[in-house]
Amino acid sequence: MDFKKVLNNRHSVRDFKDTPVKIDLIKEIVQEAQKAPSWVNSQPWKVYAATGKTLENIKQAYLDKDSQKGYPDFPVMHREDWSKAAQTNMKQWRHEIVHHFDDFDQAHEKMSFASSHLYSAPAMLFITIPKNSSKWSIFDAGAFSQTLMLSAQDKGLDTIPNYTSVRFPDVVRKFTDIPDDETLVVGIAIGYAQDSIINTYRSKRVPVDDILKIKD
Ligand SMILES: Cc1cc2nc3c(=O)[nH]c(=O)nc-3n(C[C@H](O)[C@H](O)[C@H](O)COP(=O)(O)O)c2cc1C
Repeated sequence: MDFKKVLNNRHSVRDFKDTPVKIDLIKEIVQEAQKAPSWVNSQPWKVYAATGKTLENIKQAYLDKDSQKGYPDFPVMHREDWSKAAQTNMKQWRHEIVHHFDDFDQAHEKMSFASSHLYSAPAMLFITIPKNSSKWSIFDAGAFSQTLMLSAQDKGLDTIPNYTSVRFPDVVRKFTDIPDDETLVVGIAIGYAQDSIINTYRSKRVPVDDILKIKD
């Protein structure tokens, strides 16, 4: 696929078909993601792919804990502690996604269902870095994740990077082989988008001049 098309087509999908993703395809996508740059080529990332019965077990355990507050390996900062600009962007996103639906209740119900059911994804890729990591490794894991999502898009697959699937790290560890000395960074749900309203929303970006400061 043309690069611009891949870039523009990638968006977060919150409702997947149950069509499985072929293991060979996951392998190819992860191999392409390995092209991402990293600090002194440290390649700190690892990927734990959960599909089939393993993902079913994780989904059920998450549903059982759904009302509990999450305790991810990376702490979540209180919204009011973010920068003013970030808070504005987050508020804008929330406002827009809710108003994308016919009514507030429908929006709330659809978003909660999607999150509680881990987007009904047929596969979840859990990205880790060593517990004893430099902050630079978080940067590297981000670059790796975006490369992975673009590679997936190139192959006609949809994704969503998500906090939702890593909010109960003990559950993920129980059903996967993630050792205790690795930090669970993010989950990337991967599969084929369902034809549903929740997937038709497209997030916006601030004008480039708000974030690009050129001095010559
Ligand atoms: C680290 C990270 C965690 C995220 N966690 C969630 C999540 O838990 N739930 C969700 O609906 N979206 C989540 N997202 C998706 C963002 O909301 C989305 O990337 C953003 O709104 C931009 O939209 P786009 O991905 O469609 O371009 C997450 C994104 C990132 C990068």
